[in-house]
Amino acid sequence: ALAARLDRPIVLVGMMGVGKSSVGRKLAGLLHLPFTDADEAIEQAAQMTIPEIFEQFGEAYFRDGERRVIARLLDGASHRSVLATGGGAFVNPDTRRLILDKGIAVWLDSDIDTLIERVGRRDNRPLLRGGDPRTVLTRLREERASAYSQAPIHVTSTAGPHGRTVAKVLKGID
Ligand code: S3P
Repeated sequence: ALAARLDRPIVLVGMMGVGKSSVGRKLAGLLHLPFTDADEAIEQAAQMTIPEIFEQFGEAYFRDGERRVIARLLDGASHRSVLATGGGAFVNPDTRRLILDKGIAVWLDSDIDTLIERVGRRDNRPLLRGGDPRTVLTRLREERASAYSQAPIHVTSTAGPHGRTVAKVLKGID
């Protein structure tokens, strides 16, 4: 079953800080598949950082660019690949439809404390600027749960190293 599943890109979705990029990179390494981080691809396409895009053009503009970049990545040459998406991508109905059509969506979730611990490592998330991280993350996680739950595979990530989460994703897609 795994070989058949790998005909489509594995797309990691879920909250910021859950570890989509780290888990995706490890998973791709294990499976010898190319890995792409959608946020990085957006920054390359725009030649701007994500905070700069939000600041200068706003969130709606970012979401539209995000959808276009993800569409391009999912249509790209290699269908055997792993793609990590930004936390809001799968919440946008158009982007979600694209991902559900063309990829195998895996929802990575974890408890709020783990998210807070992990987002604390970098200050690059415009949606967390000027708010208490616990309050913002709790609200976003609640608002987004019904979108994320449309992913066919759900994996819980626990605190600590990502190896166990990677193993759970492998089991999920098998
Ligand atoms: C966002 C998450 C970020 C990035 C942007 C918006 C979100 O990606 O796309 O800051 O709406 O949750 P990560 O999930 O990689 O932090």
